[in-house]
Amino acid sequence: MRKQLYVTCLLIILSAVVASCGRKIIVDHYAIIPQPVEMETAEGSFTLSGSTVCFLGNVGQNDPTVKYISRVMRQWHFNPVFVGKPESNCLQFIINESPDIDLGNEGYNLVVDNTGITISANTEHGLFYGFQTLVQLLPEDINNVRYGKIVLPACKIRDYPRFGWRGSHLDVSRHFFGVTQVKKHLDLMAAYKLNKFHWHLTDDHGWRIEIAKYPLLNDVGSWRVDRDDQPWGEADPAGEDEPRTNGGYYTKEEIKEIVDYAAERYIDVIPEIEIPGHCCAVLESYPNLACANDDTTYTVQFGPYWPPRAILCAGNDSVMTFLKDIMDEIIPLFPFNYIHIGGDEAVKHNWERCPRCKARMKKLGLKDFEQLQSWMIVEIEKYVKRQDKNIIGWDEILLGGVSSDATVMSWQGTKGGITAARRGNDVIMTPTDFCYFNYYQANPEYQPPAMPASLVTLDKVYGYDPMPKGLTAEQQKHILGAQANLWTEYINTPEMAEYMLLPRLCAMSEILWSPREKKSWEDFRARVARNVIRLKSNDYHVGVGSFKPWLTVDKDADGNLIATLHWEVEGTHIYYHTGDGNYKLYTKPFAVDKNSVITVLSFFKGTLKEQPYELKIQ
Ligand code: ACM
Ligand code: ZN
Repeated sequence: MRKQLYVTCLLIILSAVVASCGRKIIVDHYAIIPQPVEMETAEGSFTLSGSTVCFLGNVGQNDPTVKYISRVMRQWHFNPVFVGKPESNCLQFIINESPDIDLGNEGYNLVVDNTGITISANTEHGLFYGFQTLVQLLPEDINNVRYGKIVLPACKIRDYPRFGWRGSHLDVSRHFFGVTQVKKHLDLMAAYKLNKFHWHLTDDHGWRIEIAKYPLLNDVGSWRVDRDDQPWGEADPAGEDEPRTNGGYYTKEEIKEIVDYAAERYIDVIPEIEIPGHCCAVLESYPNLACANDDTTYTVQFGPYWPPRAILCAGNDSVMTFLKDIMDEIIPLFPFNYIHIGGDEAVKHNWERCPRCKARMKKLGLKDFEQLQSWMIVEIEKYVKRQDKNIIGWDEILLGGVSSDATVMSWQGTKGGITAARRGNDVIMTPTDFCYFNYYQANPEYQPPAMPASLVTLDKVYGYDPMPKGLTAEQQKHILGAQANLWTEYINTPEMAEYMLLPRLCAMSEILWSPREKKSWEDFRARVARNVIRLKSNDYHVGVGSFKPWLTVDKDADGNLIATLHWEVEGTHIYYHTGDGNYKLYTKPFAVDKNSVITVLSFFKGTLKEQPYELKIQ
């Protein structure tokens, strides 16, 4: 016992000596994303240093969260030493003896005072999020600069999420991203308290998961001719004998490694296997799974397939066997209780001409091809349910009828989600106009190529409320949350993936976690700027954002209309005129007349970033 005490003391002294080599910094601002439910600053401060003792109280030293925390702290050269509770200079982690009901499973309290830092929660998951908040209290470059002493202003935080489903989706079919990049994505999710990773593993452009029973899915379906040097929409078709060098897939070992890595960060992984469409990779590998009259030669290609006519034959029993076999191999790899079965954009052209599909419809008394798709999906749903899994599908699964247990992902606007919630189905909101991070985040004229659809700016994401209007309290309970989707047609490098995700993922995190009443664009924008410094310091690539100004109009006490201009990127200079052609620099809100027109343009660092355009006062 004496020896143990001696070793512990020595460790404390050693780590204090090591850490004291670093610089001292006084933190003068906190910029937490997502914004906590309650946060008060207080008198006093605490100095975190190498001699700060970690006290685990009732949390086991072998707990995976404790191991994670120790690892991160060692990276900062704060070698955490876990001993009995000291009077002061203590970073302590406490699992509440009796649950604090409001905190739920994910919430936490974090207190910084003169004696130390205390993070308490009902669960290890809550402690983990408390620790993520603590990380954001520390200097932005904490992972790169050796600080011996960090002086933290006293504060009191009480925090828990608004929504349970806080998701981020990654399409690894259009472009394949390896284990390292996926882990980096998961780290990002954890930092912003996102907890559902939707992994789009199969599509026309590549099958990305090892399947033992159908090896051609990997030998053939995971590879294509490399056309990454050409624009997505205009690539040359693959020649027959060209080597297929672009692609890859995750082995089962790698899948396990990623799922474990996610679990350590309290992230559930949802694999998506597309049924019945988006299946070129399957049909090139196993052409017998196509419809009877389908004489297309399918090839895994770079570039769009439009209209997406590749479809698995719904009248062929081998297809159902194939899908069940796939589920049998996938289910043991993913412990979370959801499997995403796709269901989107399946053009039924081949089914309409297929005697087998028509015979199946006749036999089952189905009145249209949407019902045939529903039959197929419900068959798979029944199958996976026997192994305790539920299904999620894109909102097209509503068309031919859906079981009451299926969860609907509303992507074509919010209508599908509203319909589903009214029917009693669970819903995840992911409408393109707010949640598709493959769309441009700023004026396309000044951006790398992206999906040419609507503009999804940071402020637009921030302005989105995942809870649709017009639902009763009971129906609202079916809105589980939302997620950001990153389709990767135009995204062919990890750097570009990060550029499109960031900083919009910060906005997604906040709209899912923080109370709606606390929303403040100006406050968020300032916190994003600090977070961008942190993200860059952690080697993430961050989009610059939109320079496009927008307008709000208020009335002053005398009833005059007052125009205020807003913009995303700090340091943007907006010039405007109200009809006389004399541009002036915008510095503060100004009076305007009803029906007047303001012409605006933007400069950043001396460069024109938005051509003149008009904002109308209505
Ligand atoms: C989708 O974007 N096709 C779900
Ligand atoms: Zn068919």
